[in-house]
Amino acid sequence: MRRRWMAAVAVSVAGLLTLSACGGGDKQESGGGQAAKKVEVFSWWTGPGEADGLKAMRGIFAKQNPNFEFFDAAVAGGSGDQARALLSSKLQANQPPDTFQGHAGAELQGYIKSGKLESLNFLYDELKLKEVFPQQLIDQISVQGQVYSVPVNIHRSNVLWFNPSVLKKAGIDGAPKTVEEFITDLDKVKKSGKIPLSIGSQWTLVHLLESVLLGSLGTDAYNALWTANADWSNANVTKALENFKTILSYAGSPQDDWQPAAKQVADGEAAFNIMGDWAYGYFHNPPEGGLGKESHKDFDWAASPGTDGTFMWLSDSFTLPKGAPNRDGAIAWLKVAASKEGQDAFNPLKGSIPARKDADQSLYKDYLSWDLEQWSSDKLAGSIQHGVVANDQWRQAITDAVGLFQQDKDVAKFQQALVAAAKNSGQ
Ligand code: GAL
Repeated sequence: MRRRWMAAVAVSVAGLLTLSACGGGDKQESGGGQAAKKVEVFSWWTGPGEADGLKAMRGIFAKQNPNFEFFDAAVAGGSGDQARALLSSKLQANQPPDTFQGHAGAELQGYIKSGKLESLNFLYDELKLKEVFPQQLIDQISVQGQVYSVPVNIHRSNVLWFNPSVLKKAGIDGAPKTVEEFITDLDKVKKSGKIPLSIGSQWTLVHLLESVLLGSLGTDAYNALWTANADWSNANVTKALENFKTILSYAGSPQDDWQPAAKQVADGEAAFNIMGDWAYGYFHNPPEGGLGKESHKDFDWAASPGTDGTFMWLSDSFTLPKGAPNRDGAIAWLKVAASKEGQDAFNPLKGSIPARKDADQSLYKDYLSWDLEQWSSDKLAGSIQHGVVANDQWRQAITDAVGLFQQDKDVAKFQQALVAAAKNSGQ
């Protein structure tokens, strides 16, 4: 069992984002004379809010690489559930895209172990990238001293988004701090006639579950769930799952994906939504891609209940698959993704903070300055849904268990399924 990444998740990352000037990541290559050759970049950033960041990075790539043509191979569907299924069949058939998005942590370790990725040590040496990314993050994307991806950002998963006017009308004074307060507030909203909690497609429930587990169990007990002797059968987990059941009983009808669920909050139809901070990009970006809403007025945020002081993290990273048809083009993309310019163009629109420690912090305002602050002081916990703590097989088993639970609401059966998922994870 390889659980090396867990060593990184339980520690504080104070000081990781000190502004040190580091080696340049902006040097470009011509692409080896392959004029306007397509570079297939595989992601799932097609939807409102998500696509804006990719577009900005793509603009930089185009400017710096006239010999390559960016080919957007994004597959729609939040959190990449659909994209990852397609990617896995492409990789099995040895038909990889030139580069694909993969989450740092257990998800990436799966690609590495199955021998699908080239080591990027040559790029890390050339661009001195070990100096610019936090060591804890590098650990998540490495095996035996080889680094296998370029992290472009840090996202926060445990965010409670809320509509201040809906809360006020329901007689709620500020965001709930604990899971118990949250449940009381959900009930108040229900009585006021609004949707207490908006939800999207099935993966958004796994996303909700990770915040409820963290908020109910506390950081150390949550982190322990991903270590070798984890005990998923104890009474604290039962209590956390009961909380999940109660919270779910206040959910509105499932929306197609995370954007329509988040929009119910921005539009004042719903009070709360627990979603990652990509929602900020969607709320805040100008209307071409986002909703153009005003923070603290149309929407507001807090740590998801019971998780203040802990940053449940995830990181999007890009890879170099073995057999990439346009390897030079993929490397050119990775250079943009690794660069300060690329990250500072991408992240303010994506609703994330840069993976690089030397980013221009003045670009990260409003929610994003809070995000940067929390990242530099909080304890860490890893996301389930977004690839940090559980490999694909484990995440899928959790997803299936959540799907069944949504139908039968049987906490004991749910917990048994989670115990089995941990046992059979092969992690
Ligand atoms: C995550 C991904 C984020 C964001 C989100 C919603 O898995 O890391 O970048 O895209 O899904 O689609």
